[in-house]
Amino acid sequence: MPPLTSIKTSGDDIEIVNQLLLPHVIEYVQIETVEEAHDAIKTMKIRGAPAIASLAALSLSSQLSRGLKASPPPDYLASTDALKEHVERILDYFFTARPTAVNLGAAIRRLRATLLKSLDANKSTRDICQNLINEGWKVSDEDVGRNKEMSRRGGEWLRQRVREDHAKVEVVNVLTVCNTGSLATSGYGTALGLITYLHESGKLGTAFFTQSAPYHQGSRLTAMELQELKIPSIMICDTMVGSLFQSHVIHGVVVGADRIARNGDTANKIGTYNAAVLAARHNIPFIVVAPTTTIDLDIPDGTHIPIEHRPAIEACLVRGAIYPIQSHEDAKHAVVMITPPGLEGVYNPSFDVTPAELITAIVTENGVAVKNPGMRGFDLSEIA
Ligand code: MRU
Repeated sequence: MPPLTSIKTSGDDIEIVNQLLLPHVIEYVQIETVEEAHDAIKTMKIRGAPAIASLAALSLSSQLSRGLKASPPPDYLASTDALKEHVERILDYFFTARPTAVNLGAAIRRLRATLLKSLDANKSTRDICQNLINEGWKVSDEDVGRNKEMSRRGGEWLRQRVREDHAKVEVVNVLTVCNTGSLATSGYGTALGLITYLHESGKLGTAFFTQSAPYHQGSRLTAMELQELKIPSIMICDTMVGSLFQSHVIHGVVVGADRIARNGDTANKIGTYNAAVLAARHNIPFIVVAPTTTIDLDIPDGTHIPIEHRPAIEACLVRGAIYPIQSHEDAKHAVVMITPPGLEGVYNPSFDVTPAELITAIVTENGVAVKNPGMRGFDLSEIA
């Protein structure tokens, strides 16, 4: 069975798999309006930097496409001013959904540029809508191809690096954090794409992955994807990274990113920084794999990355199925509180920033950047 993808489309219809219920319940949710798309992103029914950008772009396309077919036509088609106001309001609204992942901002900027270019060219409201619809589709469609490209480039780079360090190694063992596979993208994945590429080339030993509390992207989503792909894998609790590095040969840590600053400082799922510190201590290459849309050249370093803090309650709850599960069909989704009710004082940042000095390589669809000797930061101009 191919891995689940986060978004399914058919004409103007959009459905997403509700990631809050995975892996025990597979439920598709119709996304009919931009408000529903915004809510799905904010509540993390869909998550992962590229996937949320795709959903935002597709839901704008779908709304405009339905508008073109509607009778009577919606008010915003009455004039280019009305259309501009309508589209800009939606783009601004999406901007508020989740602040750290810059891919959403990049998609919004791209759609805004399409709007402004079409207005400058004095296009009709219908032609402007059509340009925006096409651009929205492109945001989503381009994702899979570039994921495969960065996965290949990163996988080959890691194999080469491991060969230099340990001449006799045939297969590599890697650790990853969070979920960066099909569910987090439009398909194949970034860091999990690299792992899939190694597996497909017969060069993967074992993929270790952290549970990634409190949302458990690792134990709920990455576990499911690795199982479906039949990739040899072992889950560890987030607290076990140091122990893993002490007791197993790990050749690389591969992670995704939500935003990469100009110097290479990288925001990713909370716990990524811990893994990077431990990787440096154990001399294990630490590799960030992300599309160019994750690079934010407007900010010089990680101190400028806005870090999203999730509601405290999310760190007090665990999602899953009641155990023992009698049959897979009977598995019911359950939300369990693991703290005393009314616990005050919960720290719940969704991301942390790994400084560039702890990162060995940054991979995009354009290539692999490594730091020049003696430099603390990256020059990303070649791969951005
Ligand atoms: O809070 P999430 O689940 O959206 O966080 C996701 C991550 O941190 C991923 O590693 C990142 O978005 C890259 S997904 C290809």
